[in-house]
Amino acid sequence: MPHPPILAPSLLAGDHAHLAASAQAAGQAGAPWLHLDIMDGHFVPNLSFGPETLAALRRAGAKQFFDTHLMLDEPQRYIEPFAQAGAQLISVHIEPAYDHAGTLKRIRTLGCQSGIVLNPGTPAGAIEPVLDQVDLVLVMTVQPGFGGQSFRRDMLAKLLQIDGWRRERNLKFRLEVDGGIDLATARECRAAGADTFVAGTSFFRAADPGAFAAAFAAM
Ligand code: DX5
Ligand code: ZN
Repeated sequence: MPHPPILAPSLLAGDHAHLAASAQAAGQAGAPWLHLDIMDGHFVPNLSFGPETLAALRRAGAKQFFDTHLMLDEPQRYIEPFAQAGAQLISVHIEPAYDHAGTLKRIRTLGCQSGIVLNPGTPAGAIEPVLDQVDLVLVMTVQPGFGGQSFRRDMLAKLLQIDGWRRERNLKFRLEVDGGIDLATARECRAAGADTFVAGTSFFRAADPGAFAAAFAAM
């Protein structure tokens, strides 16, 4: 049975002077997850926010499932602060050199779900060795660093391949897509096996965020 679809609005596209209000708007629209993009200016050429922002969002009343996407060269150094700040899922990229397996294990030991992420240029085979250690695989459908980019349709084949491994091996991880996702591109990804949808620009620019979230839930 495929997982039911989940929408994770990306706070990166929210109002950075009023992040709590943007998080609240996403929750009120009915999106169960909130996607938090953490950037270090090294792994990606941009900066965003850190663990204190997550803690402050929790204090301000954010109740969503915090889906935390670490775009960091040394993610292993920041697992604990993010877990303490209220992250419930922590995803780390496969590309930098660090102890991937040990870091994924540590994420679970801290009581969080673990995720592995791969960039558009990274073949699916790179994450194959850790597939039985993760709760989520995030396939980037743009080069990470910035919101508002165009969906990379050539990533659909990668989704099909990873979804195939999931079925063959009877694994239960969620398959998430991030970058250029709107209802139309989400439907293409859903048909290729994705079940978890990050939406930044399309969500925060939607005229009716409640209807937008409902359309994703009905996919
Ligand atoms: C890109 C981030 C995304 C970004 C997506 O580096 O990982 O989560 O916020 O933005 P949109 O949905 O605008 O492509
Ligand atoms: Zn992201």
